[in-house]
Amino acid sequence: MLPEGPGALLYDGQMAVFSGIQPTGPMHLGNYLGALKQWVSMQDAESLYCVVDLHGLTVDSDPALRREWSLDAMASLLAAGLDPSVGPVFLQSRVRYHAQLNWLLECVTSFGELGRMTQFKDKSERQASVRVGLFTYPVLMAGDVLLYNTTQVPVGEDQRQHLELTRELAIRFNNRYGETFVVPDAVLPSVGARVMDLQEPTRKMSKSVPSPLGTLYLLDEPAEIERKVMKAVTDTDGEMRYDPSAKPGLANLLEIFAALSEETPTRVAARFARYGELKKELAARLIATLEPIAARYRELRAEEGEIERVIEAGAAAAAAIAGPVYERAARNIGLL
Ligand code: TYM
Repeated sequence: MLPEGPGALLYDGQMAVFSGIQPTGPMHLGNYLGALKQWVSMQDAESLYCVVDLHGLTVDSDPALRREWSLDAMASLLAAGLDPSVGPVFLQSRVRYHAQLNWLLECVTSFGELGRMTQFKDKSERQASVRVGLFTYPVLMAGDVLLYNTTQVPVGEDQRQHLELTRELAIRFNNRYGETFVVPDAVLPSVGARVMDLQEPTRKMSKSVPSPLGTLYLLDEPAEIERKVMKAVTDTDGEMRYDPSAKPGLANLLEIFAALSEETPTRVAARFARYGELKKELAARLIATLEPIAARYRELRAEEGEIERVIEAGAAAAAAIAGPVYERAARNIGLL
């Protein structure tokens, strides 16, 4: 139970996990190894997972396609192994406190600190007209996390800076207006926190930059997975060793293998003499992991009524936690 009122110590020692993913297209291996795999292993009664459709609005799309993507994303989370009977799995827009808390937090965030966000700088450079929502996006994200008294946020490396901002905003709000938010920690996997593009291994695998052979999707057919892995860019010296700066392509494959087999990349390197052998075995392991997910996805996706029920129940359970936290923030900041 969280005590009420300014000055009270909020964190009661219990762990609470929250994380989210944007429904802006099919999920890829980076999403799986950086986020979903951890989400499944950390899921318990105190964890909430969210398809952040409000964040998705920062990307241009047809409304009908957006609805499809939200359902696709929900089905992917369930297919990857999240169990809605263990903890809520829901859509961000169905819990109105996300948008409401966003405004309170925008009013404690400075323009300068948002301008320093590297994801904003990268994404805004690629767009002719930059939406204000893309700029303020990290504040909405901070609110997502803070609404649930979250202690741990399992994410990939690219979200680390956003989590730092979340912590700063929570601390700032608590200092100015009295204890309101629990200050969360990011949890990154030991390997797989930054899966790189298979064709351009110096940049991360990404939903927003199309790379037909470089991005491996969770729903790719086995033959497609094999083709992408066998064609992955490595180097020409043929020397099997884990060296991310000198041999980024090989290092990426070793890391992916290590994340799947719960080993270190160096140990994986010691098991193989040739790149071709490593690739073959890696493709087989990826197919063994992803095929069952794709099969479950196809079953679940056909049951839209069931997905809708999961969203409804998840949103109701999430709102029961988020409501009192939002009310506390509103009261403490001075809203009547
Ligand atoms: P998003 O939707 O871009 O990605 C979802 C998760 O996948 C991870 N990820 C990767 N991990 C390893 N290698 C990669 N190449 C890779 N690409 C993506 C991301 O780190 C993320 O964990 N802002 C977030 C969504 C969000 C959120 C939140 C996350 C909104 N509110 C609250 C946590 C808590 C985003 O755009 O993730």
